Amino acid sequence: MSKKSKGFPEFERVYREIYGDRWPRLLDALRMEAPKFALENPFFKQNQDVKQVYELDLASVLVAKQLQIQPDHLVLDMCAAPGGKSLVQIFESEAQAHWVLNDLSKARVGRLKRVIREYIPADRSDRVRVTNFDASRWGLHQAGHFDRVLLDAPCSGERHQLESPGQLEKWTQSSSKRLHTRQVALLCAGFDSLKPGGRIVYSTCSIAPLENDRVVEKLVKKRPDVDVQVAEADFGEKTDLGWQILPDHCDGYGPMYFSVIQKKI
Ligand SMILES: C[S@@+](CC[C@H](N)C(=O)[O-])C[C@H]1O[C@@H](n2cnc3c(N)ncnc32)[C@H](O)[C@@H]1O
Repeated sequence: MSKKSKGFPEFERVYREIYGDRWPRLLDALRMEAPKFALENPFFKQNQDVKQVYELDLASVLVAKQLQIQPDHLVLDMCAAPGGKSLVQIFESEAQAHWVLNDLSKARVGRLKRVIREYIPADRSDRVRVTNFDASRWGLHQAGHFDRVLLDAPCSGERHQLESPGQLEKWTQSSSKRLHTRQVALLCAGFDSLKPGGRIVYSTCSIAPLENDRVVEKLVKKRPDVDVQVAEADFGEKTDLGWQILPDHCDGYGPMYFSVIQKKI
């Protein structure tokens, strides 16, 4: 690989090609500190042993709400740590469903368990199981099992990369291509673990279409019973197969991409 195809110049070249005239404004917005949304814990009113507020990106709230969890749904959050989007689901549904919250990283599973302990009252926490598996094999073990699945996938996280000059120096497009392959494997596994009629929400905090619409496109090619829903939200913009919240248009929130996918009955 030539020296030119690495680092910030290559990063800029690739994203300028995707975003055109918009890129300088988007880059500026990505470099600003991300605003935090204060998510209120509904259990705090009755039980002051739990923490009152969890701070996260407002776009994460939007993603988790797309699951539309009903009482007694069985929900799998495939890549859940540290747990922001899991809390949104549990708060929104007043812990009326049942959850498997999973993450591959042992250290991050430790953080996830702590978050659940700190925010969910003990008398509700029996509805939440935390596991530590490679989620890309889930469809083999529990096919057709869940009503709802969230795949908040590992991704390029360009906003975080811009905060870390060391990481950016090593940037190449091939890491995004490798992530695409992992994301497709995870999305197929998540889709396979859904019951017919169930719903999976695929999300990333990447601005690369390769890690977003192009991943969903692969699922559509690989599985005959995929029904991609038309995404709509109060803020953000439509993409080919989903919805994107970019900080230059959304008061600094994002980036976040999501696609809502139903399994045909
Ligand atoms: C974007 S973060 C998840 C953030 C989380 N959903 C939240 O809202 O707080 C992606 C997570 O995927 C996990 N991960 C990466 N590969 C995985 C795999 N094969 N199976 C399960 N988790 C994985 C990482 O450890 C990381 O915690």
